[in-house]
Amino acid sequence: MDNSRAQWGSKLGFILAAAGSAIGLGNIWKFPGRAYEGGGGTFVLIYLCMVIFFGIPLMLTELSMGRASQSNVVGCFRKLGHKGWSWVGWIGVVGAFIITCYYSHVGGWVLRYVCSYAFEADAVYGDPLGYFYNTLGLGADGTTHFPWVAIVFAALFMLCNAVVIVRGVEGGIEKFNKIGMPALFVILVILLVRAVTLPGAEEGLKYMLSFDWSKVNFTTVLSALGQAFYSLSIGMAILITYGSYLPRSENLHRNTVLICTMDTLVAVLAGFIIVPAVFATLGADHVGKGGGFAFVSLAGVFQQMPGGRLFGVLFYLLLLFAALTSCISLIEGIVAFLTEHFNWKRTATTIIVCLVMFLIGCLYTCSQAAYPLKGLWLDAVNGLTHPAFCDAMEFLTDRLMIPFCALGCCLFAGWAWKPESAIAEIEHNGVHFGLKKVYAVIIRFVAPLAIMIILGMSIFGGITLS
Ligand code: PHE
Repeated sequence: MDNSRAQWGSKLGFILAAAGSAIGLGNIWKFPGRAYEGGGGTFVLIYLCMVIFFGIPLMLTELSMGRASQSNVVGCFRKLGHKGWSWVGWIGVVGAFIITCYYSHVGGWVLRYVCSYAFEADAVYGDPLGYFYNTLGLGADGTTHFPWVAIVFAALFMLCNAVVIVRGVEGGIEKFNKIGMPALFVILVILLVRAVTLPGAEEGLKYMLSFDWSKVNFTTVLSALGQAFYSLSIGMAILITYGSYLPRSENLHRNTVLICTMDTLVAVLAGFIIVPAVFATLGADHVGKGGGFAFVSLAGVFQQMPGGRLFGVLFYLLLLFAALTSCISLIEGIVAFLTEHFNWKRTATTIIVCLVMFLIGCLYTCSQAAYPLKGLWLDAVNGLTHPAFCDAMEFLTDRLMIPFCALGCCLFAGWAWKPESAIAEIEHNGVHFGLKKVYAVIIRFVAPLAIMIILGMSIFGGITLS
């Protein structure tokens, strides 16, 4: 690669890539379950407010920092004249690194399930939990084995990412997202039509459109905020890096609104697929979230649904595209930093980093069920504990690194770089930014306060909010 920085080839390419980063497993397997717990429509409404008041301003800040500095997430602070803040970027890169270690393995399990539904759906239906555990190295008789199936698929998943990253920003990431994102939307619509036309789906639909304020408390609001951060990929190395590839002629605030809208739309549509489908098949109280729900409980839904096997393949393909485009963005944040900071070659860096992350990720997969590998965790409620290694990895990123990096970016933009500089960058293309006063207040006061509350809940309450 020569020394001139890569740029997005087109505006659409950037929007799809940034939306691809945001739209991930969080939208599809976390949001619907949270929406169900938070009273359906009520949660959706609260979530929308969180995206508008926190998500959009923070995304705008990260993108403008990236574009103004034309640099990776660590170099950005130095380029903007505040080298002392580089620690924020370091948290972002290290956080992205740890997330990729496990996100890529989960992506591998998703790939495995695309094949499972295509070739051996009956084995999944026969014993969904046993099938899942077996993939992860725990046999039906209680004996454990090396989870080679999960690991081989994780290696394949990581390989796909590496191939895209090696091809560069325009030739790899942009091109892939231009295919992957439309495919994701098409699958989403097909699944939506299937779900809402199931007999008995009306109850679920009604639930998602109803407002039950009795289910809402302070934690619901914070969980909506944590979900919004995670879902929009805020507080990691990504948005600064993606913003740095944007030409200065682009309209930052319009693009930000568009990306946030797409991400929210996918989350809400996933809610309108999963909640009605579960209501229509397994019954209301079976709506859940996370990997256990997506890999185990949903088997019952597909088994009972006419054409379930085909829709199963489509659903895991949807997850696969979502996971790939997010994982690619995580790796790009890391590779951009390493190639620029240490002057390393892109291809070699990508191969080495992907290999290392894959290997560390093996510990994540192995500690799920096969081996009792433990991590360390400390919080005020439980003191020093030894959760499974896989849980410790997630705690570290979800409870500490994402909120710390997001807080660092807010404080930096609000108090060191100053909102005026961000606004000048946002208005660089000559388009007036009408909400600049509101933006400045949010970024200086409201957002830092909200993130500090999230951090407090993590450290003192031992709760994961993202
Ligand atoms: N936003 C992604 C999702 O919803 C996850 C992610 C977080 C990706 C942070 C990149 C950075 O799943």
